[in-house]
Amino acid sequence: MSTYTLDTSTSRAHPTPAPMRRLTVPKIQERKAADGRVDQPIVMLTAYTTRMAQLLDPHCDILLVGDSLAQVIYGLDSTVPVTLEMMCAHGAAVVRGSYHSLVVIDMPFGAYEASPAQAFESAARLLKETGAAAVKLEGGEAMAETVAFLTRRGIPVMGHVGLTPQAVNMLGGYRARGRDDAEAKKIVADARAIAEAGAFSIVLEGVMEDIAIEATKAVACPTIGIGASAQCDGQVLVIDDMLGMFERTPRFVKRFDDLAARITDAARTYAADVTARTFPTEEQIYRGK
Ligand code: KIV
Repeated sequence: MSTYTLDTSTSRAHPTPAPMRRLTVPKIQERKAADGRVDQPIVMLTAYTTRMAQLLDPHCDILLVGDSLAQVIYGLDSTVPVTLEMMCAHGAAVVRGSYHSLVVIDMPFGAYEASPAQAFESAARLLKETGAAAVKLEGGEAMAETVAFLTRRGIPVMGHVGLTPQAVNMLGGYRARGRDDAEAKKIVADARAIAEAGAFSIVLEGVMEDIAIEATKAVACPTIGIGASAQCDGQVLVIDDMLGMFERTPRFVKRFDDLAARITDAARTYAADVTARTFPTEEQIYRGK
């Protein structure tokens, strides 16, 4: 059963607040011209909830329902335990809160690696149950066959190479990748392989800047950097990182706010008001006539 809200400007049941057409996969692909030029870099942020999607939607081209919800929402150590059910629930919430951005949902670890057929089943479920338009999966050359299988069957795929957090148990941590020649060459070859297999865009995460630039030049589809380079064709950050929700953030994160401190202040003031019985006041209580 689908839980999302149709967003067409003609929908009478759920009219959009400001009717406009959602960005599509071809529109994102078109941002990168045949000569590799990108006049308007792609703006992408993660979102996991309806309200956050509503706030971010007017400012983004793509909302990514990342499996980073493992750490951000669920307090898990890694993305490995994330399930399809979790991605379906949060994906549907983000689609309900957005009208403009393309919504892309991460395929969770274990839901696509076994075979192209397994990947198709998982991706189809994500799209059917959420209303999102595309999926993202991690991996390079090893995933090229799967990317081709999905795209030929109508499922747009965003790739993800470089630091691939679902492979944390193989990588042994979250260090930036491409520090030696062999690793650098592999990352560029990975990007090339999934671009040629039909990926409509590729996330380049946690790679040395020169590799990000080389990979961006090597592929026809747009690249979206995180801990990569300003010369990627777009950028993505985890929303809670850029809002300053965590005490520690990786080097590549720019904090655009300090929400943790502001929430702490609000909670402290609330506790003081409750303790002093200065909340609620006249303005917040009901009185019978
Ligand atoms: O899960 C996620 O949020 C991601 C981004 C960091 C690209 O994959």
